[in-house]
Amino acid sequence: MTQMPIVFTRGVPPAESFPKDRLAQAASDVLAEYGDVVLQYGPSRGFEPLRALIAEEKKAKSTDIILGQGSLQLLDLYARMTIRPGDVVYLEAPTYDRTLTILKRAGAEIAAFPVLSDGLDVDAVETSLKQGRRPSFFYLIPDFQNPSGTTLSLDKRVRILELASTYGFLVIEDIPYRRLRYRGEESPSFRQLAPEITLQLSSYSKLIAPGLRVGYVLAPTSVSEPLAKYAEDTYINASYFNQALVYKLASSGWLDMHLMDLIALYTPRLDTMLASLDAHLHGFASWHRPDGGFFMGVNLDKAVPIDLLKQRAAAANLQLTDGRGFFANGDGERFLRLPFCALKPEEIQEGIARLAGVIVG
Ligand SMILES: Cc1ncc(COP(=O)(O)O)c(C=O)c1O
Repeated sequence: MTQMPIVFTRGVPPAESFPKDRLAQAASDVLAEYGDVVLQYGPSRGFEPLRALIAEEKKAKSTDIILGQGSLQLLDLYARMTIRPGDVVYLEAPTYDRTLTILKRAGAEIAAFPVLSDGLDVDAVETSLKQGRRPSFFYLIPDFQNPSGTTLSLDKRVRILELASTYGFLVIEDIPYRRLRYRGEESPSFRQLAPEITLQLSSYSKLIAPGLRVGYVLAPTSVSEPLAKYAEDTYINASYFNQALVYKLASSGWLDMHLMDLIALYTPRLDTMLASLDAHLHGFASWHRPDGGFFMGVNLDKAVPIDLLKQRAAAANLQLTDGRGFFANGDGERFLRLPFCALKPEEIQEGIARLAGVIVG
């Protein structure tokens, strides 16, 4: 009998989390209240009421916030605006695979530094800087990193910022998972610690629905000003209609309640993932125990050749991502990213039992 497929490839929210009825109501309210604005072209920074709401929460100027068609669009825009061939950019290893693609395509030379159990190896970063390899920026995912699940400690955040001001580079913090914390205490964001040298990217993709494609960047005025102009010259503006839907859900307090529902939905999924790994892979792999987000990163004790891994996974009807995609230099043969939010606890249990069979052979 063929087993049900189990998909450990996609870090997406589950369809059961999508607030379809609430969005239908918001769509009708938005058209009634803001129809003439949201159906027209507009200034490139995006729908002002949503920017004002984010600005209030972040204690920022609303003109320093640019809304985009997802946060990735804004990262791509910034990369294309600033990177010249040969410019060095610092990243974590592993990191988000699409960021790697975007930065390489923009012509950046990548220097990537290992992620330890509490985030980045800052000593390795300092050594590289002392050797004269200065980046234009350091892109980090400090909270519940995609793909490793790690969170950067406060001490390391402070050290990275000290290095950034000594050596003169910007920090780009990408924090789409920050509000999905299932336990433990939050550290201040890079922007809270040093707004003048931080670009903060974030998104409503994981909080409401990725299909809305609403994300933002909050940047110092020296960056937000030229970026807004670059955006206008590239695509005029991102979707005001979708931004206004987000505004409706966020300004009414609904989003805060929804976040509590998401945390209640995802916490048992993370717990099941951890318990299943403890039960099946102890002695064959190691992993960090995340406090939130979407992902677990697992490091196998012994590399299984990727073709063999794929072949055994296919036989077990298990879909796995090739770990090498998260590393700039082709490392990652021993790395597995396991997203847990879109799978039901019983699928996670079954998936990890099958994974153990695949790895242990
Ligand atoms: C670290 C990180 N940044 C950005 C994105 C994409 O965000 P958006 O949907 O806002 O473009 C993702 C999605 O998986 C992500 O994990």
